Amino acid sequence: MAASEGAFRNLYADAVEILNNSTALAPLSNDLPKIPEWLGATPVYLPIIEKLTRLPQQASGRSRNLVDQIVQLAPDIPWQQTYVEEQVGKHYLQNYGWFNLLSPEGMFYSETIRISIGVWLKPIFYLEHSHEPEEDYLILAGGGLFRSEGCAPRQCGVGDTVHHTSNQRHSIDMADSDMVALAFWRGKNLMRRATLKTS
Ligand SMILES: [Fe+2]
Repeated sequence: MAASEGAFRNLYADAVEILNNSTALAPLSNDLPKIPEWLGATPVYLPIIEKLTRLPQQASGRSRNLVDQIVQLAPDIPWQQTYVEEQVGKHYLQNYGWFNLLSPEGMFYSETIRISIGVWLKPIFYLEHSHEPEEDYLILAGGGLFRSEGCAPRQCGVGDTVHHTSNQRHSIDMADSDMVALAFWRGKNLMRRATLKTS
Protein backbone atom coordinates (compact mmCIF):
# COMPACT_ATOMS: atom_id res chain seq x y z
CA MET A 1 0.00 0.00 0.00
CA ALA A 2 1.44 3.39 -0.96
CA ALA A 3 1.99 5.75 1.96
CA SER A 4 -0.56 8.15 0.58
CA GLU A 5 -3.19 5.42 0.27
CA GLY A 6 -3.07 4.69 3.99
CA ALA A 7 -3.23 8.37 4.87
CA PHE A 8 -6.12 8.95 2.51
CA ARG A 9 -7.95 5.88 3.87
CA ASN A 10 -7.77 7.55 7.28
CA LEU A 11 -9.12 10.74 5.73
CA TYR A 12 -11.99 8.81 4.12
CA ALA A 13 -12.81 7.04 7.39
CA ASP A 14 -12.92 10.37 9.20
CA ALA A 15 -15.15 11.88 6.53
CA VAL A 16 -17.56 8.92 6.82
CA GLU A 17 -17.60 9.30 10.61
CA ILE A 18 -18.45 12.99 10.33
CA LEU A 19 -21.26 12.19 7.88
CA ASN A 20 -22.56 9.54 10.28
CA ASN A 21 -22.63 12.12 13.05
CA SER A 22 -24.58 14.64 10.99
CA THR A 23 -28.31 14.38 11.60
CA ALA A 24 -29.10 15.55 8.08
CA LEU A 25 -26.53 13.43 6.26
CA ALA A 26 -26.33 10.23 8.31
CA PRO A 27 -29.01 8.50 6.17
CA LEU A 28 -26.91 9.13 3.05
CA SER A 29 -23.81 7.60 4.58
CA ASN A 30 -25.46 4.16 4.64
CA ASP A 31 -24.77 3.94 0.91
CA LEU A 32 -21.05 4.65 1.23
CA PRO A 33 -18.58 1.84 0.57
CA LYS A 34 -16.89 0.69 3.78
CA ILE A 35 -13.58 -0.19 2.13
CA PRO A 36 -13.61 1.56 -1.24
CA GLU A 37 -11.26 0.64 -4.06
CA TRP A 38 -8.20 2.89 -4.29
CA LEU A 39 -7.70 4.36 -7.75
CA GLY A 40 -4.69 6.47 -6.83
CA ALA A 41 -3.91 10.11 -6.23
CA THR A 42 -1.43 12.09 -8.33
CA PRO A 43 -0.56 15.31 -6.47
CA VAL A 44 -1.48 18.59 -8.16
CA TYR A 45 -0.15 21.88 -6.83
CA LEU A 46 -2.38 24.90 -6.22
CA PRO A 47 -1.42 28.22 -4.57
CA ILE A 48 -3.84 27.62 -1.68
CA ILE A 49 -1.80 24.78 -0.23
CA GLU A 50 0.69 27.31 1.14
CA LYS A 51 -2.06 29.12 3.04
CA LEU A 52 -3.99 26.30 4.72
CA THR A 53 -2.49 26.39 8.21
CA ARG A 54 -5.01 29.01 9.34
CA LEU A 55 -7.91 26.62 8.70
CA PRO A 56 -7.81 24.05 11.58
CA GLN A 57 -8.50 26.74 14.19
CA GLN A 58 -11.72 27.49 12.28
CA ALA A 59 -12.91 23.87 12.58
CA SER A 60 -14.99 22.40 15.40
CA GLY A 61 -14.02 19.59 17.75
CA ARG A 62 -15.64 17.07 15.44
CA SER A 63 -14.15 18.35 12.18
CA ARG A 64 -10.77 19.47 13.55
CA ASN A 65 -9.04 16.15 12.93
CA LEU A 66 -10.28 16.00 9.34
CA VAL A 67 -9.17 19.56 8.59
CA ASP A 68 -5.80 18.88 10.25
CA GLN A 69 -5.34 15.88 7.95
CA ILE A 70 -6.25 17.92 4.87
CA VAL A 71 -3.62 20.52 5.79
CA GLN A 72 -0.97 17.85 6.41
CA LEU A 73 -1.77 15.93 3.23
CA ALA A 74 -2.18 19.04 1.05
CA PRO A 75 1.06 18.53 -0.97
CA ASP A 76 -0.07 14.98 -1.87
CA ILE A 77 -3.64 15.87 -2.83
CA PRO A 78 -4.84 15.85 -6.47
CA TRP A 79 -6.28 19.36 -6.27
CA GLN A 80 -8.62 20.53 -9.01
CA GLN A 81 -10.35 23.70 -10.13
CA THR A 82 -13.59 23.83 -12.08
CA TYR A 83 -13.20 27.21 -13.74
CA VAL A 84 -10.69 29.28 -15.70
CA GLU A 85 -9.50 32.86 -15.23
CA GLU A 86 -11.80 34.27 -17.91
CA GLN A 87 -14.80 33.04 -15.91
CA VAL A 88 -13.89 33.81 -12.32
CA GLY A 89 -10.75 35.99 -12.33
CA LYS A 90 -7.23 35.40 -11.05
CA HIS A 91 -8.02 36.11 -7.38
CA TYR A 92 -10.57 33.29 -7.29
CA LEU A 93 -8.18 30.77 -8.81
CA GLN A 94 -5.46 31.68 -6.31
CA ASN A 95 -7.77 31.19 -3.36
CA TYR A 96 -9.83 28.10 -4.03
CA GLY A 97 -9.47 24.43 -4.87
CA TRP A 98 -11.15 21.09 -4.35
CA PHE A 99 -10.47 17.40 -4.65
CA ASN A 100 -12.49 14.23 -5.02
CA LEU A 101 -12.21 11.83 -2.11
CA LEU A 102 -14.75 9.38 -3.59
CA SER A 103 -15.96 9.43 -7.18
CA PRO A 104 -16.06 7.43 -10.41
CA GLU A 105 -12.52 8.72 -11.05
CA GLY A 106 -11.12 8.25 -7.52
CA MET A 107 -9.20 8.79 -5.42
CA PHE A 108 -11.52 6.11 -3.98
CA TYR A 109 -14.04 4.55 -6.33
CA SER A 110 -17.79 4.88 -6.38
CA GLU A 111 -19.95 4.94 -9.49
CA THR A 112 -22.96 6.47 -7.75
CA ILE A 113 -21.68 8.86 -5.08
CA ARG A 114 -19.18 11.66 -5.24
CA ILE A 115 -17.60 13.18 -2.13
CA SER A 116 -15.42 16.19 -2.75
CA ILE A 117 -13.82 18.61 -0.32
CA GLY A 118 -13.47 22.26 -1.26
CA VAL A 119 -11.42 25.08 0.24
CA TRP A 120 -12.09 28.81 -0.20
CA LEU A 121 -9.91 31.52 1.33
CA LYS A 122 -11.50 34.87 2.15
CA PRO A 123 -12.46 37.29 0.79
CA ILE A 124 -13.96 35.27 -2.02
CA PHE A 125 -17.30 34.89 -3.75
CA TYR A 126 -18.44 31.69 -5.46
CA LEU A 127 -20.62 32.94 -8.32
CA GLU A 128 -24.07 31.54 -8.88
CA HIS A 129 -23.84 28.11 -10.44
CA SER A 130 -25.76 24.87 -10.82
CA HIS A 131 -25.21 21.19 -11.53
CA GLU A 132 -27.34 18.17 -12.29
CA PRO A 133 -26.45 15.98 -9.27
CA GLU A 134 -28.20 16.65 -5.97
CA GLU A 135 -25.81 18.15 -3.47
CA ASP A 136 -25.40 18.34 0.27
CA TYR A 137 -22.71 20.58 1.72
CA LEU A 138 -21.35 19.93 5.20
CA ILE A 139 -19.22 22.76 6.50
CA LEU A 140 -15.99 21.61 8.16
CA ALA A 141 -14.34 24.97 8.93
CA GLY A 142 -15.27 28.65 8.67
CA GLY A 143 -18.46 29.34 6.77
CA GLY A 144 -20.27 31.48 4.26
CA LEU A 145 -23.50 33.14 3.21
CA PHE A 146 -25.44 30.74 0.99
CA ARG A 147 -27.92 32.11 -1.50
CA SER A 148 -29.90 29.25 -2.99
CA GLU A 149 -32.62 29.70 -5.63
CA GLY A 150 -36.03 29.86 -3.96
CA CYS A 151 -34.62 30.09 -0.41
CA ALA A 152 -33.84 32.94 1.98
CA PRO A 153 -30.10 33.75 2.27
CA ARG A 154 -28.53 31.70 5.04
CA GLN A 155 -25.30 32.30 6.96
CA CYS A 156 -23.80 28.88 7.63
CA GLY A 157 -20.97 27.75 9.88
CA VAL A 158 -19.21 24.60 11.03
CA GLY A 159 -21.52 21.59 11.21
CA ASP A 160 -24.27 23.19 9.15
CA THR A 161 -25.57 21.40 6.08
CA VAL A 162 -27.02 22.91 2.91
CA HIS A 163 -29.07 20.87 0.44
CA HIS A 164 -29.40 21.70 -3.25
CA THR A 165 -31.74 19.88 -5.57
CA SER A 166 -30.77 18.98 -9.13
CA ASN A 167 -29.98 22.16 -11.09
CA GLN A 168 -30.97 24.50 -8.22
CA ARG A 169 -28.83 27.60 -8.62
CA HIS A 170 -26.71 28.75 -5.68
CA SER A 171 -23.88 31.11 -4.74
CA ILE A 172 -21.66 31.43 -1.65
CA ASP A 173 -20.35 34.71 -0.27
CA MET A 174 -17.21 34.25 1.81
CA ALA A 175 -16.26 37.91 2.19
CA ASP A 176 -15.68 37.54 5.92
CA SER A 177 -14.73 33.91 6.44
CA ASP A 178 -12.68 31.12 4.92
CA MET A 179 -14.56 27.90 4.28
CA VAL A 180 -13.77 24.20 4.07
CA ALA A 181 -16.77 22.14 3.03
CA LEU A 182 -17.51 18.55 2.15
CA ALA A 183 -19.85 18.18 -0.82
CA PHE A 184 -21.87 14.96 -1.18
CA TRP A 185 -23.21 14.50 -4.72
CA ARG A 186 -25.54 11.84 -6.04
CA GLY A 187 -27.48 11.47 -9.26
CA LYS A 188 -26.57 11.50 -12.92
CA ASN A 189 -23.45 12.99 -14.48
CA LEU A 190 -21.42 13.02 -11.28
CA MET A 191 -18.27 14.11 -13.07
CA ARG A 192 -19.78 16.84 -15.22
CA ARG A 193 -18.59 20.22 -14.05
CA ALA A 194 -20.87 22.84 -12.56
CA THR A 195 -22.21 25.54 -14.86
CA LEU A 196 -21.72 29.19 -13.94
CA LYS A 197 -24.73 31.40 -14.56
CA THR A 198 -22.51 33.80 -16.50
CA SER A 199 -20.88 31.12 -18.69
FE1 LIG B 1 -22.86 23.28 -5.68
